[in-house]
Amino acid sequence: MNSREVAYELLGRVRSSDAYANLLLPDLIGKNKLDRADAAMCVELAFGTLRNQGFYDWVASKATSRDLAAIDADALDVIRLGAHQILGMRTPPHAALNETVNLAKRVLRQGAVGFVNAALRRISEKPRTEWVELLEREVADPARRLAILYSHPDWIVKALKLALEADGRSEIEKLLRANNDAPSVNLVALPNHRFVDEEDLVREGISPLGYRLEGGDPTSLRGFQDGSLRVQDQGSQLAALALSRAFEAKPGERWLDLCAGPGGKAALLGAEAKLVGAKLVANEISNHRSRLVSQALADSGVKAQVINEDGRTLDVGLFDRIMIDAPCTGLGALRRRPESRWRKTAEDLKELNVLQSELIESGWRQLAPGGVLAYVTCSPHPAETTAILSKLLGKHKDAELLDAGLILEGISDQFMPNRARKTVQLWPHTDDTDAMFISLIKKVG
Ligand SMILES: C[S@@+](CC[C@H](N)C(=O)[O-])C[C@H]1O[C@@H](n2cnc3c(N)ncnc32)[C@H](O)[C@@H]1O
Repeated sequence: MNSREVAYELLGRVRSSDAYANLLLPDLIGKNKLDRADAAMCVELAFGTLRNQGFYDWVASKATSRDLAAIDADALDVIRLGAHQILGMRTPPHAALNETVNLAKRVLRQGAVGFVNAALRRISEKPRTEWVELLEREVADPARRLAILYSHPDWIVKALKLALEADGRSEIEKLLRANNDAPSVNLVALPNHRFVDEEDLVREGISPLGYRLEGGDPTSLRGFQDGSLRVQDQGSQLAALALSRAFEAKPGERWLDLCAGPGGKAALLGAEAKLVGAKLVANEISNHRSRLVSQALADSGVKAQVINEDGRTLDVGLFDRIMIDAPCTGLGALRRRPESRWRKTAEDLKELNVLQSELIESGWRQLAPGGVLAYVTCSPHPAETTAILSKLLGKHKDAELLDAGLILEGISDQFMPNRARKTVQLWPHTDDTDAMFISLIKKVG
C-alpha cells in the first residue's frame, strides 16, 4: 500500500473497530515498508484528517448538498482525505484531486467513484479562506461556528470554555487551534541520566528535567536505549515532581502510584524515590497496563513493587506520598490522540466522576498523617478537577490544600503560577504541555 492507501486503511479501522490511531499507524507504516518521506506524508494525512474531520465534514455536506448520514462511510473517508490535502496541506489541488480519485478507484465500488470525484471537484473550487467565509455567513451561533472551524464536538468546546473561565481566561480560539497542532516530542531525563549531555538535545520547556526533540527518532538516542531518557509530556513531568519534591523526602518513605498504567509517571517517581531512599508501590487495575508499568520501571532501571488491583479497595498499608493520576476524559490531551475527541461523550464524564471520587477517597484512607496526595488529571474540566477536590476537602477536616503553584515555582524556573488559585492548570496554548490539572493535599498530622 502507498501512503494514501495506508491513511485510508487507518481511518476505516479507527472508525469501525475503535483502533487507536497513534498505536496503529506506526504498525501499518512498518508493515507496508513506507520510506521516511512517505511515512511522514502518511502521518500528516491520517492525523491531520482525523483532527480536522469536523470542518471537512461540514465542507463535504455543503459540496455534496447531502447530510453526512446519507454519504457512504468509506466514500466519506476518501472525501475527508482529499479535503485535507486540498484545504489543509500544501498539495496542489489538481494533484490532490487526481491522487485521491485514483485512491477512490482502488478502494471504493465503481458507483461511489463518480460521487467522490464530483465532491472533491466542488471542494477544490474554493480555497480554504472562502470555505471559512461561507461558514461565517451561514452559521450564526459563535460556539457552533468555532466547533466546526476547529473541528471539536460542541460539548467539548463548551467544556473547554468553562475550564478556561474557571482559570480566569477566555482565549478559547487559541486553545482549540493548539489542539489541532501536532505536539512536539518531549523527553524526560530521569535524575540518574548518563548520556543526556552527550546527546544532541535542547533543554527546553516548563519541566526542569524536560528536553525537546526537534526532529529525528528518539529511540536512536543512547539515553533512550539505557532507559534514562523517556518520551513524556512536560506537564506530566511537573505533576510527578510536584509530588516527589513537594517538601523534602526522608529515606524510608513509602510512596504509592494508585493508577499507574502505562507507567510514565511511575518511572519518574521511581527514579526520584531511588534518589532519596524512598520505596515506590505502583498499582494499576488493568492486567495489560500493569505489565506496561513493570516494563516502564524495568526499562528505567527503577525498582518498585507493581500491584494489579482495583485502586478503590487497595489496602496495603499507609503511604507518605500518593499519586492519583485519575482516569479522566483526556480533554487535555486532544492534540496527542487525534481521534479521541470524536469518541468521548458528555455521558462518559458522569461515570468518570463517580470513579474519580472513589479513587481520591481510597487514596485519602491510605495516606499517612503528615503525608501528601497529588490529585492529577489530563483534563481541565472542572467537574473532574476542582469539583472532585472540593468534595474531598469538604468531607475531611484534616485535609489541607497546599499551594501547588508556589511549590512548582520552586521546582521550575519556567513555571508561572496563577496566584488566584492554589491548584495548577496547564494549557497547550500557553505552556506547550497537555492541559494537566495538578493539586496537592496534605493530611494534617
Ligand atoms: C490517566 S491513566 C494514568 C497514567 C499514568 N499515571 C502514566 O503517567 O503513565 C489512569 C489509569 O488508571 C487506571 N484505572 C482505572 N480505574 C482504576 C481503578 N479502579 N484502580 C486502579 N487503576 C485504575 C486506568 O487503567 C489507567 O491506566
